[in-house]
Amino acid sequence: MSISVRPMAGAAVFSALLLSTTSAFAASGYDADSKIFRLDGGDVTYAFGISPQGYLQAVYWGGRLAGGDKLGPLVALRDHSSVDMSASITPQEFPGQGGGIFVEPALKVAWPDGSRDVVLKYASHSIGRDRIDVVLQDIGRPLRVTLHYTIDPDTGIVGRSATIENRDKDVVRLDQVQSASYTLPTGNDYQLHYLTGRWAAEWTLQKRPVTEGSTVIESRRGSTGHQSNPWFAINRAQDAQEESGAVWFGALAWSGSWRMTVDRDQIGKVRVVGGYNPFDFAYRLKPSEKLETPVFYAGYSAQGMGGASRLMHRFQRNEILPRHDGELKLRPVLYNSWEATEFKVDEAGQMELAEKAASLGVERFVMDDGWFGKRNSDKAGLGDWTPNPEKFPNGLKPLIDKVQGLGMEFGLWVEPEMTNPDSDLYRAHPDWVINFPGRPRSEGRNQLMLNLARRDVRDHVFKVLDELVSKNEIKFLKWDYNRNWSEPGWPEAGEDQQRIYVDYVDNLYWIIAELRRRHPGLEIETCSGGGGRVDLGILALTDQAWPSDNTDPFDRLTIQDGFSHAYAPAVMMDWVTDSPNWVNRRQTSLEYRFLSAMQGGLGIGANLNHWKDEDFATAKKMVAEYKTIRNTVQQGELYRLISPQDNSPRAATLSVSPDRRQAVLFAFLHSSTKLEPFPAIGLRGLDPAKLYRLRRIGGAAAEAGANPDVASGRFWMERGVQADLRGDFQAAGYVLEAAE
Ligand code: DGJ
Repeated sequence: MSISVRPMAGAAVFSALLLSTTSAFAASGYDADSKIFRLDGGDVTYAFGISPQGYLQAVYWGGRLAGGDKLGPLVALRDHSSVDMSASITPQEFPGQGGGIFVEPALKVAWPDGSRDVVLKYASHSIGRDRIDVVLQDIGRPLRVTLHYTIDPDTGIVGRSATIENRDKDVVRLDQVQSASYTLPTGNDYQLHYLTGRWAAEWTLQKRPVTEGSTVIESRRGSTGHQSNPWFAINRAQDAQEESGAVWFGALAWSGSWRMTVDRDQIGKVRVVGGYNPFDFAYRLKPSEKLETPVFYAGYSAQGMGGASRLMHRFQRNEILPRHDGELKLRPVLYNSWEATEFKVDEAGQMELAEKAASLGVERFVMDDGWFGKRNSDKAGLGDWTPNPEKFPNGLKPLIDKVQGLGMEFGLWVEPEMTNPDSDLYRAHPDWVINFPGRPRSEGRNQLMLNLARRDVRDHVFKVLDELVSKNEIKFLKWDYNRNWSEPGWPEAGEDQQRIYVDYVDNLYWIIAELRRRHPGLEIETCSGGGGRVDLGILALTDQAWPSDNTDPFDRLTIQDGFSHAYAPAVMMDWVTDSPNWVNRRQTSLEYRFLSAMQGGLGIGANLNHWKDEDFATAKKMVAEYKTIRNTVQQGELYRLISPQDNSPRAATLSVSPDRRQAVLFAFLHSSTKLEPFPAIGLRGLDPAKLYRLRRIGGAAAEAGANPDVASGRFWMERGVQADLRGDFQAAGYVLEAAE
């Protein structure tokens, strides 16, 4: 978020800024009498205060309060017992590991003399319209921590980060640095939701009760990872519904190793602490140096998990995703050659596919892996980013000209952070990879990782990409990343080498940001062997994300559903591929595949050389349909009407345009049994007083007699749409358009 800090005298602004209780308004303030800070935005209030002992203490996080509501003053918490002292049970906003606390600390420090005690207390603050900075100071040592708070006026999503500053004359080692500690209201029936996965099975929604003890979700892999995603949501079991009940949720804007600890302590306080993963972490902060953490965003919704994800989607669209000339661009329909050709790309073959793709109405043609160096398999070539002379004897220009001549943009696959040992780059610079000298260099997919933390490597990678994009009319890069870290050494950095966990990611962000600055129209997709690197950090620099290599249209329903809990359909790319699909060898109709893929940004990844005339006709019709609804699907409000989770045989989603004039419904049936009818699908989010005309996507008439052609929004929400789905792997899509 770009918010300017306007320091003001705290006490004077508190009442002035908190008079309004309307939601599209953000305010921040400090009440000197009660020593309470307060941020209000959307339907949310977030408050914290200075405890009588000087700790910064969590006070309130939930639905928006009235301006005059009093939240303080705070009273000093008494020791719970001799084993649970006051300092430890005080819910600190940013606890240092010291002074006898046993909760998860936000900061652990090793001082040069061997002491490891850090106790942070309030020192000063400054306040802007929708941000607050609070300075904490260790009680004895010159270590300063500035906590940054922002609130989004629209969604009430709070952003928290911290800057640690060494004001001493010696180096201080930071062993654990978190971005924030969030404390939930006292409650005993919380349930944690989080996303786990593996290659080809990302975005699995998990649920578990928050009981005494910790749940740690994390990546130790050097990047975001498939195994867990840096997102959480916590609701209350008693009132948990998709569309109602309180939900606290959050996501970390970081693409390196990360950790979130969800903890219910012995006195029932629930906290979520998140930031850099302390696993193998050490950051030596030199005199006057600062370390600024990634932002840990968190929000609150009273509208259930559905409301929580709609806030996340809106926040991402409005505040996170890159804009082009101030606009969030719609995802063009793309064709990608990977599943059709794998590494067997060449000029003639790509041109043939391009012609066929263009005939379908595709707008962006993307050539995937295999076009460069000696890349005939995954054994060689990464690092040598010049076109393979046998496959592209005249470079990329003839293909790009052809693609443009067909009215499409050209996009290209790259994996810039990697090198194969069998590459000219590695032969010239074996020292450029992450390694521990004298130890094996473990390979994943026959490749090693370039150490982007090194300035020379960073500059080389940037130069290669800059030249590639400057010399060729490339409008889109699919940025892949197909392995995780091993032997995470940076020999040249000596005792500072664990900074690799921070410097690598900072330099990755720098390269992408600089590339975008130099090539303003360029769009980028984050891909990591499927969905291994999707987080709010990388999404601030990329236009779209590849959720999974699993393109089975039925598997995709749960994958896309899981993805949608944390991330916006505006970035979620989905392809129509061949049947039987390579994952489950399952056969599905082309219409089913399209309807599954039309729930996000539509792509086609099938081998068009195998298609029949009727496939082209169906695909052409579906692509044309998609263009009429993509605005709503990508940038509308998403309602998950029937969850595909827990082996549900049915699934349905609804997207409603911001002006509520169009709604798009997708319904899926795995298999019907015993003549069980598909339940009526009650819609949401429509204008009850408006008339909406219903039509079925693909041209077929709506089920004869089952649904009226036109009815009120109230009708479609109360009585619902009746989909007559029967059989195996059946799907239906509907569009509702405001009739007047
Ligand atoms: C992994 C990606 O997720 C795939 O889509 C494809 O681009 C391959 N890499 C290419 O090697």
